[in-house]
Amino acid sequence: MVLEGFHQEKDVKLKSSPADLVTETDQNVENLLISSIRETYPEHRFIGEESVVAGEPVVLTDSPTWIIDPIDGTVNFVHRFPFVAISIAFAVNKQVEFGIVYSCVEDKMFSAERGQGAFLNGVPLHVSHQKDIHQCVVVTEIGAERDDLSLSTMTSNIYKLLKLPIHGVRAVGTAAVDMCLIATGAADAYYHIGMHCWDIAASTLIVSEAGGVVMDTDGSQFDMMSRKVIAASSADVANSIAKVVCAFPCRRDDEVGSS
Ligand code: IPD
Ligand code: CA
Repeated sequence: MVLEGFHQEKDVKLKSSPADLVTETDQNVENLLISSIRETYPEHRFIGEESVVAGEPVVLTDSPTWIIDPIDGTVNFVHRFPFVAISIAFAVNKQVEFGIVYSCVEDKMFSAERGQGAFLNGVPLHVSHQKDIHQCVVVTEIGAERDDLSLSTMTSNIYKLLKLPIHGVRAVGTAAVDMCLIATGAADAYYHIGMHCWDIAASTLIVSEAGGVVMDTDGSQFDMMSRKVIAASSADVANSIAKVVCAFPCRRDDEVGSS
């Protein structure tokens, strides 16, 4: 469905900002995933991006819960920029037990199960284990926020990192794939403020299972609902990024009416 839609003209609608887009394909993929999983597991709960936009609350309980982004990288999808992914995580007791990120155009299936390692199309993945921030390629995202405070904080974070200096900054346009790039060792760190739990739930496990470190942008323990994350090849690199980046205010995903 994603590949079929990728090459077609799309009916694009706006969500929280002029850069936060949705298409019929996002909704159709999410409906298909939820309805087919529900046939087998009728008692399981779901947090899906488009269901939340349609008004469902984000409630992560101890019950088995599927956290789904039907298309991560919807702006890429609309522009046919070839990095779009389906992200599915399965959590129990608020902990992700397995996750998959399927990068549709690249035909890359990233997967991880708690304690069993991370894989790309079945081949084991390992982070770069880089410890020196000055030797790092750092991935981040511009995000959909366009207010002055978010934009100035985001650009100043990039400026400060480049001045350290580091080897480079990259942005692919999908948080899920960005994090998988850390798991493959192609990049050494990723940080992001403003993404949602469905963008990164699966890839946090993929990074951890590949030997990486996942934390909040302030250096504290990662919180799936806080909309802030650092994923890195080592604790040293993660802490170096936490020292530099500042967060702009974002409503938590589990607050009523989050967007
Ligand atoms: C977005 C992408 C993008 C990131 C945004 C996300 P969506 O997800 O992951 O890279 O910058 O913060 O919301 O809307 O394409 O699913
Ligand atoms: Ca999405």
